[in-house]
Amino acid sequence: MASSQIFLFSLITLLLLLLPSLSAAPLAVKAVYWFPDSGLPLKSINPTFFSHMFYAFAGLNTSTNQLTISKSNQDDFSQFTKILREKNPSIETIISIGGGGANASSFAAMASTNSSRKAFIDSSIELARTNNFSGWDLDWEYPKSQSDMNNLGSLLSEWRSALVSGNQSLILTAAVYYKSTVDSLNYPIKSMASNLDWINVMAYDFYAPAWSPPETQPHAALYDPTGQISGSIGVANWTAAGMPATKIALGMPFYGYNWVLLNPSNHGYLAPTNSSGGGAMTYSAIKEFIEQYEATTVFNSTVVENYCYSGTTWITYDDVQSITAKVSYAKQQGLLGYFAWHVGADDSNFTLSKTAWQT
Ligand SMILES: *[C@@H]1O[C@H](CO)[C@@H](O)[C@H](O)[C@H]1NC(C)=O
Ligand SMILES: *[C@@H]1O[C@H](CO)[C@@H](O)[C@H](O)[C@H]1NC(C)=O
Ligand SMILES: *[C@@H]1O[C@H](CO)[C@@H](O)[C@H](O)[C@H]1NC(C)=O
Ligand SMILES: *[C@@H]1O[C@H](CO)[C@@H](O)[C@H](O)[C@H]1NC(C)=O
Ligand SMILES: *[C@@H]1O[C@H](CO)[C@@H](O)[C@H](O)[C@H]1NC(C)=O
Ligand SMILES: *[C@@H]1O[C@H](CO)[C@@H](O)[C@H](O)[C@H]1NC(C)=O
Ligand SMILES: *[C@@H]1O[C@H](CO)[C@@H](O)[C@H](O)[C@H]1NC(C)=O
Ligand SMILES: *[C@@H]1O[C@H](CO)[C@@H](O)[C@H](O)[C@H]1NC(C)=O
Ligand SMILES: *[C@@H]1O[C@H](CO)[C@@H](O)[C@H](O)[C@H]1NC(C)=O
Repeated sequence: MASSQIFLFSLITLLLLLLPSLSAAPLAVKAVYWFPDSGLPLKSINPTFFSHMFYAFAGLNTSTNQLTISKSNQDDFSQFTKILREKNPSIETIISIGGGGANASSFAAMASTNSSRKAFIDSSIELARTNNFSGWDLDWEYPKSQSDMNNLGSLLSEWRSALVSGNQSLILTAAVYYKSTVDSLNYPIKSMASNLDWINVMAYDFYAPAWSPPETQPHAALYDPTGQISGSIGVANWTAAGMPATKIALGMPFYGYNWVLLNPSNHGYLAPTNSSGGGAMTYSAIKEFIEQYEATTVFNSTVVENYCYSGTTWITYDDVQSITAKVSYAKQQGLLGYFAWHVGADDSNFTLSKTAWQT
């Protein structure tokens, strides 16, 4: 090759190498939740695959409206930041408040008056400061009336003001329903968009044996050809309602649901199931199941979800392919990033955590 040809060849090679990185900026938020009883001890977490880690959960004292950490979790809570930073000095830690098991009415009561909101905000700042956390994640599942929604808006705005006046560069997030409306109630988008750093869109649990018709369905599909329920429908709904894409983290499950098939040879989507069986399963347990029972595994790229089956057991879950496709989607859509529930459900090699980080 003449030197000009070599030059051209090198230039093209260089451009091809650069193309993927030019097409989408790296994601700023690669987050995950952890909770003390998850089966993964604090010291065994590999935090190198994450930018942010949520401690789940702080609770609410209904008489004082202050944050509480149960006595048995005090040690994990107070050492959370220190231990994670030993392996990842730049990780940011966030106190997640509430969760699916918390009493939603106690959040409604706390958010309903100026003085109870103030008690809550003051205690949240105190708790984060004394334990070296970088911020909070409000996981109120869910406001039940339009006044709850409006009070949530006031809470976020007063919370942010308290941070600004304290000159803190602290992080304020909320874990939210996959859409901008819950049971026809509108989230206070204006307040959320201006006061939150981002929202964690819970794009999973769409179908499960405990609350869905008795037929197999993907529980965390990214796409739904029938247009009913999926992560991308939720993200589009949030952005159409006014939440900037740059303030959205897409939720991904490190767990699945097993269903009991009525007929083992009918194992696609919408196959009839026994409504009295099944439940949630960690990715780690699903991998063991696949190995032990030599289960057949399927990746459906139309909906972006994996499933596997053996005998009458059928499991919907996220594996390497669906996690990769979801992170790519987040990049293409210009989202802020992703989060996963929860790191203790990943396998012992942190396969899903690593896959997401490297995508
Ligand atoms: C709530 O706060 C009150 C008053 O400080 C205290 O007596 C009570 O033990 C707390 N409850 C819980 C569950 O922490
Ligand atoms: C939930 O919180 C509300 C409001 O504080 C309280 O009245 C109710 O007793 C609580 N329910 C449970 C099951 O703790
Ligand atoms: C309470 O109300 C006052 C007056 O409306 C307001 O200035 C303040 O920001 C509100 N919130 C808190 C948490 O104090
Ligand atoms: C918080 O971080 C500071 C500075 O790194 C350290 O001196 C202090 O011991 C930490 N406190 C806790 C509770 O971890
Ligand atoms: C906030 O703190 C930083 C660093 O301590 C300082 O440079 C800045 O001037 C402060 N800003 C305000 C508005 O107080
Ligand atoms: C979001 O979805 C809800 C429920 O389907 C719908 O009522 C609402 O209009 C949607 N919002 C936007 C902005 O598309
Ligand atoms: C569903 O499971 C229950 C409990 O194992 C069993 O009693 C029942 O016969 C099953 N129903 C069908 C239709 O297989
Ligand atoms: C993937 O899922 C879609 C939507 O349910 C379905 O139409 C399609 O047949 C599935 N593809 C495979 C290969 O299972
Ligand atoms: C973890 O990785 C090692 C080495 O690649 C492999 O032998 C082992 O089976 C993996 N464990 C799991 C749970 O995937």
